Amino acid sequence: MLGPPGAGKGTQAERLAREQGVPKISTGDILREAVQSGSELGRTVRAAMERGELVSDDLITGIVRDRLSRDDVGDGFVLDGFPRTVPQARALDHIMAGRDPLIVVEMRVPDEELVRRVRSRRVCRVCGTNVSAFSADPSKASKCERCGGELVSRADDSETVVRERLRVYWRDTRPMIEYYGDRPTFRVIDGAQPPEHVRRSLLAALDAMAPGTGPAAQGEGRL
Ligand code: AP5
Repeated sequence: MLGPPGAGKGTQAERLAREQGVPKISTGDILREAVQSGSELGRTVRAAMERGELVSDDLITGIVRDRLSRDDVGDGFVLDGFPRTVPQARALDHIMAGRDPLIVVEMRVPDEELVRRVRSRRVCRVCGTNVSAFSADPSKASKCERCGGELVSRADDSETVVRERLRVYWRDTRPMIEYYGDRPTFRVIDGAQPPEHVRRSLLAALDAMAPGTGPAAQGEGRL
């Protein structure tokens, strides 16, 4: 699942993974957990994340390689936020050698809408849950729906850092997306629609590329 900060990758990846019964692997979540726990990895990546920069290709590729060697990915997985550079995309192709084809979906959203979404995002300080995109107004929610924890802004969601993350996206990640452009298992979807419409577009794209995962398999009545 590819796209700029705030495109809705995490929102859609989480629901898709839950419905498919496969793990969601978010490199951003893995790194944030490391920062929160104060581990050596967390200390290494904290400054770069807080500035809105990418962490090194070698480090993040090693994390993903390890994660994809676990037994629970045998039936598939949803990757959120990886790859983000051409070297990461090449490394992922090596990791995927001999497995089913990688399905790549890019979510496109105009920059000003991305800034608006990220600035109004609230996450739980305790469990990290993102206040649902399906809430009428996330900025007015006061407690985490899951654990009752306090809701805060993410450390990298200030306007200055979001604009830096967007700059990094256009510089490093957008060219990487061209790497996938000609593949039959690549699709672009409009992420600027309401979440349920984005979900429909995502399922339709998956259905076209990998029959059995799209709306027919999910049941239109649940949309
Ligand atoms: P990461 O956590 O991956 O951040 P990101 O890519 O910037 O993406 P976000 O989490 O901000 O947005 P999202 O697209 O998931 O949107 P969401 O669903 O949350 O990475 C953080 C940092 O880690 C990076 O900056 C970097 O430092 C490091 N990192 C991670 N991976 C790396 C890698 N591979 N290489 C190097 N460094 C790496 O939605 C956003 C908001 O919008 C939410 O409030 C949501 O409720 C709302 N929303 C969602 N969909 C909609 C909709 N359709 N309409 C209206 N609102 C919506």
